Amino acid sequence: MSKLKRASFGSKLGVVLATAGSAVGLGNIWRFPYMTGQNGGAVFIMIYVVCVLLLGIPCMVSEFIIGRYGQANTARSFRKISSGTAWMLIGYMGVLTGFLISSYYAVVSGWCLEYVWASLIGKLQGNPDYIRTYFETFSQDPVRPVFWTLLILLATYLIVEHGVRDGIEKASKLMMPTLFILLLIIVVASCMLPDAQKGIDFMFKPDISKINGDVFLGALGQSFYSLSIAMGCICTYASYFSKNTNLAGTAIQIGVIDFFVALLAGLVIFPAAFSVGVNPDSGPSLIFITLPNVFQQAFNSIPIPYLGYMISVLFYLLLSMAALTSLMSLHEVSTAFLQEEVGTTRKRAAIIVTICCLVIGIFCSLSLSSLNSYQLFGMTLFDLFDFVTGQLFLPIVGFLTCIFIGWFVPHKLVRDEFTNLETLDNGRLFHVYLFLVRYVCPICILFIFLHQFGLI
Ligand code: PHE
Repeated sequence: MSKLKRASFGSKLGVVLATAGSAVGLGNIWRFPYMTGQNGGAVFIMIYVVCVLLLGIPCMVSEFIIGRYGQANTARSFRKISSGTAWMLIGYMGVLTGFLISSYYAVVSGWCLEYVWASLIGKLQGNPDYIRTYFETFSQDPVRPVFWTLLILLATYLIVEHGVRDGIEKASKLMMPTLFILLLIIVVASCMLPDAQKGIDFMFKPDISKINGDVFLGALGQSFYSLSIAMGCICTYASYFSKNTNLAGTAIQIGVIDFFVALLAGLVIFPAAFSVGVNPDSGPSLIFITLPNVFQQAFNSIPIPYLGYMISVLFYLLLSMAALTSLMSLHEVSTAFLQEEVGTTRKRAAIIVTICCLVIGIFCSLSLSSLNSYQLFGMTLFDLFDFVTGQLFLPIVGFLTCIFIGWFVPHKLVRDEFTNLETLDNGRLFHVYLFLVRYVCPICILFIFLHQFGLI
């Protein structure tokens, strides 16, 4: 197996679009707007940008270094770079985090598919109570969410099974530009609504009085989540980069793309919400309850036939595509792991991962309905996964990765990967990177971690 030439992305564009595909997901279109809505609008966005620059991008570069150096799945890459010391456990933890999160990410991605279907057949029309009940009935149904989870996992399987170049890269090259175009169309429609300016002001006129510790920590966590850090995805994809890929440059490009998609998603949601007088601070239900209402009210008042209908279909379609490209990267973490560690074929590895994700996904989904009473530490399985992966593993893996790269991996190795053996003229940037990854990132992550447990 190892004698075969390892798969790789075919072009620079492929590298950027596939990695951006992992980063751009529900986090950008669902989580970012509701976090912005809850945390004071423009102020949150400003702090978020700082977090992406100081925390997200350096962490991403660190994972790039490990993955490209290792040329293997996340666990093996950590094993190689740590020469088999205990640090390699971070790699295994990353793979486990990626695997666990893929199951429940698949469930929420399935919800997006249901909403494409529902808006397509005109079922998302009705008064606000109807829309709320629709979501509650659907998410608690024992069968329908499972069906959509199965479908999105099947789509993910078909792409991943085709390999890095013919599957992941091709799909990303198709879906990412489509997603971007759809988003732009809806942004234009949304910003032309009456009173849209209020929403735009909310996003761009900072109210300094809104700054507090929670805003800061929320932005920090969001930057991590949105850039797919600490789940093995970035590391796995980097193992398919070529030795000429400029790691820092690529990370900056991904950071910029990811931020712009989030910003555009905000420019869809806030102008539309403000134009009908809805407050966009409803939290996670924003996308599935508030938004169908907002789209209906806002666009049905415009005398263009079927505008509200079309916007709704296109929006959920792009949301599903964003979810799918992220799910692909999560799936790939475990597929590459199985393929290389167990020594099986890609197809077989992908099938096993899909089945395991489906089984866990079914339990996650049912934990919102019939298995609701089975709880651990007072949480349903769905919430438990969210908690263990997002609030426990993610910060631990991120923190340890920074400490490991910043303090324990030989300086020369890190520098050689960063500068592509001194062929890139970015020696100065390297010093900035090293400073951030040694001091700023670990301290910030430690803060989030302690804060969420109420310790500071
Ligand atoms: N970054 C993705 C998003 O914004 C979520 C994700 C996290 C995907 C980790 C893969 C790995 O939705």
